[in-house]
Parts: sequence; C-alpha cells; structure tokens
Amino acid sequence: MNKNQKLRSQEWFGGNDKMGFVHRSWLRNQGYPDDYFRGKPVIGICNTWSELTPCNGHLRDVAEIVKKGVVEAGGFPLEFPVMSLGETIMRPTTMLFRNLASMDTEESIRANPLDGIVLLTGCDKTTPSTIMGACSVDLPTIVVPGGPMLNGRFRGETIGSGSFNWMIKEKQKKGVLNEDDLLEAEVCAARSIGHCNTMGTASTMATMSEALGLTLPGFSSIPAVDSRKKVMQQLSGRRIVDMVKEDLTMSKILTRKAFENAIVTNAAVGGSTNLIIHLIAIARRIGVDLKLEDFDSVGSKIPLLVNLMPSGKYLMEDFFYAGGLPVVMKELGDLLHQDIITANGKSFRENYAKAECYDRNIIAKIEKPLQENAGIAVLKGNLCENGSVIKPSAASKKLMNHTGRAVVFESMEDYHERIDNPDLDIDENCVIVLKGVGPKGYPGMPEVGNVDLPEKLILKGVKDIIRISDGRMSGTAYGTVVLHISPESTIGGTLAIVKNGDMITLDVEKRLLQLNISEEEINKRKSKWKAPEPMATRGYVRIYLDHVEGAELGADLDVLVGKSGSKVDRDLH
Ligand code: FES
Ligand code: MG
Repeated sequence: MNKNQKLRSQEWFGGNDKMGFVHRSWLRNQGYPDDYFRGKPVIGICNTWSELTPCNGHLRDVAEIVKKGVVEAGGFPLEFPVMSLGETIMRPTTMLFRNLASMDTEESIRANPLDGIVLLTGCDKTTPSTIMGACSVDLPTIVVPGGPMLNGRFRGETIGSGSFNWMIKEKQKKGVLNEDDLLEAEVCAARSIGHCNTMGTASTMATMSEALGLTLPGFSSIPAVDSRKKVMQQLSGRRIVDMVKEDLTMSKILTRKAFENAIVTNAAVGGSTNLIIHLIAIARRIGVDLKLEDFDSVGSKIPLLVNLMPSGKYLMEDFFYAGGLPVVMKELGDLLHQDIITANGKSFRENYAKAECYDRNIIAKIEKPLQENAGIAVLKGNLCENGSVIKPSAASKKLMNHTGRAVVFESMEDYHERIDNPDLDIDENCVIVLKGVGPKGYPGMPEVGNVDLPEKLILKGVKDIIRISDGRMSGTAYGTVVLHISPESTIGGTLAIVKNGDMITLDVEKRLLQLNISEEEINKRKSKWKAPEPMATRGYVRIYLDHVEGAELGADLDVLVGKSGSKVDRDLH
C-alpha cells in the first residue's frame, strides 16, 4: 500500500468522534496503550483451536507466539475463534460443516477492523474452510499450519495415525490384535500434539498451503512440537505485518499458476484425493478457473517422489528430517511455476534453491521416482457423467483395468448390516458399489469410500477389491477406490440405478468408469427411480442441502462462490 493509503482498521480506530471512542474504548479494557490504535496494522489471528479438535489443541499456545512476531514488527494482534472441525469426532462428518466454518471465517474477518490475517490451521477441514472464507474477503493472509504429530511406535513398529485404522479390522479378524493391544496402540498412534502424521488430508492441506504460496517456505513439514515450528510461527507474525504494508493480498498470490503448483506438488507427495474438492472450492472463491479435469491434465503425469504413508512407508517426522517439502519443490524444478510470488514476497525458485536432501529413501530424485504418473486420474463414463476420481498411487496395479460384478449397498447402514454376512455373494473380482454418500446424500460426503472388505475375503487373504461410491476417502486410506462419483446417487445420478449383478468396467488408462448396460435400460430404470426424502427440513443442514453443489465443483454452497471483498460501509450506529 502506498503512504497515502489508510489502513482499513483506521476506519474504525482512526476517528476522533463518538464512534472512534466506542471502537477504541471497549478494546482498551484489555490493557492496550493508545498508540496501538493510531496506525498500527491490526492483525487478526483466526484460531481454530478447540479441545474437540485434538489435532488443533495446541493452537492457543501457537497464537501467543504469532502475536510476539506481530508486535515485534509493529503490528497490533487480535486473536479470534472460529468454528473448529474435529475430524475424528464430529457427526455425521466434518465435511458437512466445512462451508459453515468458511462462512464464520469470512464474516468474522469482514465485520472486524482487521488489516491482515493469520490462519491457524491443523486438522483436515480447518485448513480449507479458513482459506475459503479468507479468500472471499481477500485481505493479506498468511497460513500457519499446526504441524504433524511425532512418529507413532507400537511394540517396535511404526504406526501412522489414520493409516493404522484401516488395518484394525483385518488384524482383529485374524486374531493378531485383541482388546488390550488396541488400547495400548491408541496412545502409541497419537504420542504428541499435532495433526495426523501420514500424508493424510491434514498433511496434504498443509502441503497445499505451502505449495499455493500461502505459508513461509519449509513451514508445512515441521512437526508440531519442534522448536523450529515456533520460530516459523513467530516469523509468520512478523511477516504478515509487512504483507499488509505491501498490500500483498490473497488474490495476488493465488493465481492460476499457484493452483497448478498445488496440483503438481500433491501428486509428487502422494497427497490426499480430498485436495481436489478443497482446491476447486478455494479457486472458485478467489475467482480462478479450475476444473476437475485440470487435476488429470496438470497432475497425472507427475512422478511420486515422497515415500510416506499411505502411498509409502514413512511419516511426516521422517519427511522433515529428510529435508521436507523444500527438497520436493527443488526436485520438481520446471514442473512447477518457479517464478510466482509467495507469502514471503519471494518466488518459489528463491525460496527453495538451497534445499538439500538428507535421505533418498524418503525423498526420491526426480530422475529416479518411486512411481511414474502418480497424480490423480479423473474418470468419465456413463456411471459418472460429471466425473469421478481415483488415486493410482494408493491402488492395486492388477485392478486398474478390470470388469467385475456389482455388489450393491444402498446406504452405509445397508453396508454395515450385510457386509460380513457369510451368505453375501461376493468374491475378489466383484465391485463394491456404495450409494448415498455424496454431498447431499449422507449428508456431507463422508470419508467412507474405502469401506472395509468383507470378513470372508479378509480371511482368504484378499487385500483389495474395487470399491466405487459418490463419497470421499480419508487421506490416510488406500486401495482401488473410485470416489466423488457425480452426479451423486441421491439426486438420481446413474449410480442410483446400479443393481446387484450389473457388470462394471474400470479402466484407469482409458479414464473410464462404465456400467455395462444399454442406454435404454439405464433410462428405463431412471424413469422409475424415486428421490429419497431430504435429510433435514430445518437449520444449517437444510440450507446446506438446498445450496450444496456437486463434488466436481468443490461441494461449496452456490451462494458462497466468489468474494464480497473487505469493504463494509455502514457502521454500527
Ligand atoms: Fe485431525 Fe487426522 S484427525 S488431522
Ligand atoms: Mg480425514
């Protein structure tokens, strides 16, 4: 901003009249000197701390460290809470509330005398929700990722938070894990503050924040407890004050090229499929044209460089010791747009030029990747006219081109009731079809797409079969799982009319997901299909159901797409 420009906060605090008195006086009950109100950039620290979001349970302490940095740089920090979304606890799924939390963030920023924003994030949805909300206001904004937990160890073995969950049923059925073992494993999997330590959705979202240029370089890989994390928090506090002075708003950083960088980086780190939905939603808030197909055209040919669960073997703590995301950014070289600006005012090239790798088992060289073509594949076909997705790096090679008989579950309840029934007619060549788990269906598009296999197949030693649904899967999960089928079954997409015994073809190379019945038969079944009763008649969920868009559009509410900016003309009197 130039010298003649007034800080936004001065519209509240700068007046020598009644309203200036009102805006300042009440805040002074916290003990701020009067010069805090005379032209210091006011930095809002948007905190997703909550004891119900254990992954963000340390963010109150983080806020204090960020404040130190803000004060050092001559700013005035004011912390405020927003709705926090705890992945492991909230019912029916945090995704139902991502858009609500984004509204909370947006309006809390816009309505208050803030010049710059620090977003304190951690657990899966707390990152996209706050970024989406902040985009719709478009002030200078920096992200402070809460950081992953330390490595989990259980009886000498590494266990990744999240990924271990998907082995529990198998281990219990095979009798290698009893009740006491499970109790012991619980605390081994979560032995420090922080979010999931696999490359699950939280680590993916932190990585995305950095790849978009919204964090200081190198920030996203550092474990939550590490003292270097604290340094980054303090420096972020300092930096946001300068970002306000430079008027480095979100839209100056979040260009189309930044989104392409996020897609490329996600492929290289083996990140979560949830990135797709969140990144599209963020792009549509800030006004960048980003389509589902871009994830395939920009990302699918990118090689996998990072050996982290669920695609690989290691955890975020190991990744950090190996050099972390900076090494990946350097390895990717010209596959990234290297010259675009990031939060620290420098380009990717400048930020990551000096990165060094300390363990090639964990971060591969680009010439010798862990896997070629590791990005997300976007599938089309009569089963998903608006698209669906699969993460090849987490899938079984032998199932990538496969035709199998559909075993249909009409809902999650139907699945739970019948999956372990010994009479269920299913084998390893079948395709599990799960309906009713899309954005409107559950409601909220839960992470259930990677449903456990039937007990009888587990005992036979089967590790993976194709599973398709309109739902999502946890970023910590793996398997040959087709997700985000759109249009979803609850609104009468083709998925709704699939019957037991229908043949389904998945051909990832051809990008095809097909129901092998005639168009005539499809139309006949669709004409008889009846829409289910809406899942809610009042409250936020009713608003959500009335306005939520398809997965391919980011599952945002239609009325939230775009931005309203930071200008609010009317004062409170
Ligand atoms: Fe919070 Fe995994 S449950 S990050
Ligand atoms: Mg999750």
